[in-house]
Amino acid sequence: MKVFLTGASGVMGRSSIQALHSAGHDVVGLARTRESAAQIADAGAEPCLGDLFDRAAMSAGMRNCDAVANLATRVPVGTRALLPGSLKAIDEIRFRGSRVVAEAARDAGVGRIIQQSLSFMYADQGDDWIDERSPIDVTRATEPVIVAEDNAAAINSWGGTAVSLRFGLISGNDANSAWLFRRAAANRSIGLGEETGWMHVIHPEDVGTAVVHALMAPGGAYNVGAEPVRRRNYVNSMALAAGRTTGRFLPGWTVRLGGKKLEILTRSQRVSSQLFSDRTGWQPRHPQLTPDWFHGLVRA
Ligand SMILES: NC(=O)c1ccc[n+]([C@@H]2O[C@H](COP(=O)([O-])OP(=O)(O)OC[C@H]3O[C@@H](n4cnc5c(N)ncnc54)[C@H](OP(=O)(O)O)[C@@H]3O)[C@@H](O)[C@H]2O)c1
Repeated sequence: MKVFLTGASGVMGRSSIQALHSAGHDVVGLARTRESAAQIADAGAEPCLGDLFDRAAMSAGMRNCDAVANLATRVPVGTRALLPGSLKAIDEIRFRGSRVVAEAARDAGVGRIIQQSLSFMYADQGDDWIDERSPIDVTRATEPVIVAEDNAAAINSWGGTAVSLRFGLISGNDANSAWLFRRAAANRSIGLGEETGWMHVIHPEDVGTAVVHALMAPGGAYNVGAEPVRRRNYVNSMALAAGRTTGRFLPGWTVRLGGKKLEILTRSQRVSSQLFSDRTGWQPRHPQLTPDWFHGLVRA
């Protein structure tokens, strides 16, 4: 198949190019800058210069493609995430960009959209398992994620298929993990929420293999990640990788100051990815979080 990727130069895009090529697919990657285009070309994909909000450029790049994977994001990393307006760019990508991607796909006659999404949208369920039918907690922070899924699903109305992949927290050699890793190495707090609460995580490599499997998945939304991990174990794995024996949690009152932006990172989410495995045969290569996931990060 030939697959058009937005966000091709990001952490999800790089992993997807590799996995798609390994599975024998061709890739066209959207690039906003010459630097991103060069990076995409170096990875062996065909760059398409353009922006997520440029419908004409995207539909030209999507011509003759069988599927589009919308992986573009602009997630603020570290304390920048707490600044006023920090979510403006990512919200715009989700609210409006996802709609432009769907319109461009329709213009180009592409029959399948894979939309990257987030399992953070589920309500806190304590120790109970979460599947795709579990309640969603809509807040200012999760609404754009839900709207992006809906925008992709517009393709159903003209006979196509939409697959939303609700990923867990990407944990590995990526910018957010690197920021947490540096804090852990300096013995600063990195944990959010209850220590016994659950987190849904995914190794960056498994994002790419999930995109490959989504090419054949029946339409719908799927949770995609490794086995859920207790928040205490996540924090300790990061701390161990960073050369410490145990990691530290932020006190509840500082988390509350972060409002809705931080609240979604504190929910206990014991998310099952069984449906995606059952429907597509996908299995994570990294099924369980270990300190090894962070070995690509260099100690400061
Ligand atoms: N599920 C999760 O946990 C999750 C999901 C997403 C991201 N994150 C985290 O967020 C951090 C940053 O992610 P990242 O390193 O992938 O970088 P990023 O800055 O979020 O960029 C991601 C990709 O989106 C593209 N993009 C952004 N705005 C665009 C626009 N208007 N039009 C077209 N493309 C656009 C970028 O292209 P350019 O090269 O042109 O900038 C890049 O390819 C990482 O730590 C990552 O793990 C986590």
